Amino acid sequence: MDMTGTTTQAASGQVLSGKTAIITGASSGIGRATALTLAGAGAAVVIQARRADRLENLAREISEHGGKVLAVIGDAGLEGDIDRLLDETLSWENGGRTYDIVIVNAGRGLVGGILTSDPGQWQDLYQVNVIGATYIMRRAGQYMVEKKGGDIVAISSVVARNLSPFGAFYGSSKAAVSVIAEALRRDLAPSGVRVTTVMPGIVLSGFQEVAGYNAENFGNAVAPFGKLLDPSDVAETIRWLLTLPAHVNINEIAIRPTGQVYP
Ligand SMILES: NC(=O)c1ccc[n+]([C@@H]2O[C@H](COP(=O)([O-])OP(=O)(O)OC[C@H]3O[C@@H](n4cnc5c(N)ncnc54)[C@H](OP(=O)(O)O)[C@@H]3O)[C@@H](O)[C@H]2O)c1
Repeated sequence: MDMTGTTTQAASGQVLSGKTAIITGASSGIGRATALTLAGAGAAVVIQARRADRLENLAREISEHGGKVLAVIGDAGLEGDIDRLLDETLSWENGGRTYDIVIVNAGRGLVGGILTSDPGQWQDLYQVNVIGATYIMRRAGQYMVEKKGGDIVAISSVVARNLSPFGAFYGSSKAAVSVIAEALRRDLAPSGVRVTTVMPGIVLSGFQEVAGYNAENFGNAVAPFGKLLDPSDVAETIRWLLTLPAHVNINEIAIRPTGQVYP
């Protein structure tokens, strides 16, 4: 309540009220937590992933908490599915909606180095982590230039800068994401569009299983790091940077568990 007795949007925590946020890879981990967090902050959220059951469960959970949500099932690595995601957002509620925030999150890991990772998975990994991510950044960037504002948040990784013993080929895809997001920032800054690269350290999520980590080896390797990040730690960081004044752009941010020495 302010002094006149009116509950302000900021005071009620609805700091993203009136904004629409698109989140790729929302069926699990960081994407799921970010959808919940941004919806909790008052944003209408458009969520994408391939696993329909998980996406629909999340949509139900957000609705039950009074949030506004649209679920669009699709593959974040396919240009046609990305086009449909953006088009369905704009035609949601009879076309009255714009979008303000795009969280480029969908992605996957792959265990091993150049000699030891499975080359049969290289193409699939680059398709979603690099090609799909770049395509949605490009399309959203073109739209936001016209609109003269907006936020694009690309989820990279600390391994973009610090080669990981767990997944070197994967790291190369995140190095590409970081470079592409920074190039996009330079393209969009004159139009008042903010681009942020978020580089998480180790987050416990579906990531480790999809990447093919051996649970025991992984557990031994990260044991010295203490408590690892939860997806909600990254989601809260994203919420924070989105709510800064429009003239403040956090260009990049690395967020690690406190005990994580490397990568
Ligand atoms: N966990 C970590 O330690 C860590 C650290 C740094 C960066 N990251 C990055 O954070 C992002 C999210 O990972 P996470 O940790 O949250 O892992 P996660 O729990 O496995 O979630 C990954 C999400 O991406 C989606 N996804 C994967 N391929 C997709 C595709 N082709 N099309 C659509 N969605 C796809 C998955 O949904 P569907 O399978 O349902 O499609 C899922 O919702 C990734 O970009 C990852 O590289 C993770």
